[in-house]
Amino acid sequence: MDYSKVKTTSRFDQYKKFLGGGAKNWEYRGKFQLDLMKLVGLLPNSTFVDIGCGPGRGGIHFINYLNKGKYFGFDYNKDFISIFRKTVVKEKLIKKHSTIECANNFLPSFFKMQSFDYALAFSVLNHANYAQKINFFRNIEFVLIREGRVIVTHGNWFLDNSKIFKSNLKLLRIIDSNLIDCRKYGWSEIENPYPILEFGI
Ligand SMILES: C[S@@+](CC[C@H](N)C(=O)[O-])C[C@H]1O[C@@H](n2cnc3c(N)ncnc32)[C@H](O)[C@@H]1O
Repeated sequence: MDYSKVKTTSRFDQYKKFLGGGAKNWEYRGKFQLDLMKLVGLLPNSTFVDIGCGPGRGGIHFINYLNKGKYFGFDYNKDFISIFRKTVVKEKLIKKHSTIECANNFLPSFFKMQSFDYALAFSVLNHANYAQKINFFRNIEFVLIREGRVIVTHGNWFLDNSKIFKSNLKLLRIIDSNLIDCRKYGWSEIENPYPILEFGI
């Protein structure tokens, strides 16, 4: 799906139908993202970037968990960003001082002054073309701390190694149901977020 063209609104949760699992699985699939990142090592004081955060399905859980000022999210769909910001207000999470931005080319403005312990691209690169993937790998590499980790879900497209994406990020691990069982979060054998790729420098 080309998410750059999606126009939607927060009325009657209309936007939820654009994401896999829809309104029915919304809560579970959001919670899964936080549980996954905690298993990878995310702590409340970690600095975290939610790449292609969409309308905040996972983002709301991350903001709740992380300490003040530690959550950064961006997406190129302005309607999703607007809904996410409204949800933050509705959920009384303004006090967490999150940064949520509309940005193209995987290059939000906060990349100029912020580095990250962890990054997540949840169901994002499977919707991206080759040029966008190059931008992703090039830009994320430079904002990650030395021990930092980038997690990419729905990674079946990643056939070779990151050299083809001109990046120093290396595939360190492929995460599967041994670390986290997605069936407990409403996925099936056929539709699921595996393989989940863990990259680092
Ligand atoms: C399937 S949705 C997942 C949203 C969110 N990660 C979640 O799981 O709830 C894919 C998201 O990636 C965003 N996206 C895709 N390509 C992008 C790009 N090049 N830059 C920023 N966002 C992008 C879309 O706008 C959409 O919000």
